[in-house]
Amino acid sequence: MAATEKQPVTGAGPFNGFLTWVDQRFPLMSLWKEHLAEYYAPKNFNFWYYFGSLAMLVLVLQIVTGIFLTIHYKPDAAQAFASVEYIMRDVPFGWLIRYMHSTGASAFFIVVYLHMFRGLMYGSYRRPRELIWIFGVLIYLCLMAEAFFGYLLPWGQMSYWGAQVIVNLFNALPLIGPDLALWIRGDYVVSDATLNRFFAFHVIAIPLVLLGLVAAHIMALHEVGSSNPDGIEIKKVKDPKTGHPVDGIPFHPYYTVKDTLGVVVFLIVFCVIMFFMPEFGGYFLEYNNFIPADPLKTPAHIAPVWYFTPYYSILRAITEDFMWVLAAGVIGLAALIVSSMNGRPARIATVVGAMVLLAGFFSIEPKVWGVVLMGVSVLVFFFLPWLDRSPVKSIRYKGTLYKTALAVFVIVFFVLGYLGTETVTDTRTILAQIGTVLYFAFFALMPWYSKLDKTRPEPERVTW
Ligand code: HEM
Repeated sequence: MAATEKQPVTGAGPFNGFLTWVDQRFPLMSLWKEHLAEYYAPKNFNFWYYFGSLAMLVLVLQIVTGIFLTIHYKPDAAQAFASVEYIMRDVPFGWLIRYMHSTGASAFFIVVYLHMFRGLMYGSYRRPRELIWIFGVLIYLCLMAEAFFGYLLPWGQMSYWGAQVIVNLFNALPLIGPDLALWIRGDYVVSDATLNRFFAFHVIAIPLVLLGLVAAHIMALHEVGSSNPDGIEIKKVKDPKTGHPVDGIPFHPYYTVKDTLGVVVFLIVFCVIMFFMPEFGGYFLEYNNFIPADPLKTPAHIAPVWYFTPYYSILRAITEDFMWVLAAGVIGLAALIVSSMNGRPARIATVVGAMVLLAGFFSIEPKVWGVVLMGVSVLVFFFLPWLDRSPVKSIRYKGTLYKTALAVFVIVFFVLGYLGTETVTDTRTILAQIGTVLYFAFFALMPWYSKLDKTRPEPERVTW
């Protein structure tokens, strides 16, 4: 359409002339309408739907505070620690910017974990939202990488030794391991070269990917429409006159106003933590990280930041004895798959797959399996849309089986998280092993318990 054919922006407002001028050259009003004023969202959103917009807020907060930190920070092993102290003590409001960024990192994970939990409760990952979920899991992976790279930058003891431990994990991988670890570090130990590349990844590479993924996440969401606590599709019942879903309301102004309330409450909690307890008992900023990195002095207890600890626990749970438990799990799962399959080729493939895994269990070191299972424990989230076989999406209409499984999963996630912050003892290792079994059982057995579960019929229209 020619620029001059566009209708002028209507309604009262001092900027109409300007908006019309812009709109004839850029699809401003159509973007506004498509994504806000005429994006119809279900009218029954509840508390759990705050966390998507809060995640966006924290993303912006991290980028803005990150830019200001970068202005004063020195990515140099000889100066990094001192430059952070300089930011804290000498740069005007440097302490505020730094605490906003460090508190923001933990807040990001809290918000994203709650956002993911909403997905688990209401089956937001189910058809037709599989791609929204997949983009989400990719965002989660990027977030983990972003936090890991960023943690090295203050060049404290925990930054240094944490990076050393995690990069050394790659060493354990067969064939490519040692070369891969060397390639990541850029040196034989964590050093200035490592700091420089982690800085590059933290300030530009990963944030670019993250922003792209968030854009894809929202575009996919707006293509299929939001789900809701009833797990029904509001697009199915439309007003014949307007063509809009009868159970939908325009995102703007209804949800922009609702989300503003979420933002205000979030910022109050955020400020209380940032101003009064920025270290949060050593969970948000570890005490050992206030000591400059010393490559000659390993701290007695190395633990990652809290948001990685459930996975760290899984890594530490894989001992030589535990391989027998894993083997029993694989045999049990293979038997279950074979008994519920019809085709002969599929059954043979399952048995062969299980045998290959079992052979691997006893020929490759448990340490390697620890690394592999830690990776699998995150990647398994990708498969949720295809593991859940329940006829209904929302937990409201699911039965006791799914509710119990989800409750156990959440408890296990917390317990593993706690154990990952503590030193290893025999009892804690056994607890972590029980937790690991339950963690994987949640995913591996989902096709069966979600199908066996006694569900209630979904309503035709949303309830509220
Ligand atoms: C930077 C991180 C993220 C941002 C900014 C973000 C943003 C959003 C926003 C604004 C929404 C719509 C509002 C809402 O439903 O709450 C949304 C929906 C959704 N997000 Fe995210 N998200 C992020 C991470 C994730 C992650 C890690 C996952 C899952 C692994 C995920 C899965 C979903 C799903 C499935 C929906 C659709 C929900 C529904 O319609 O019921 N998101 N996200």
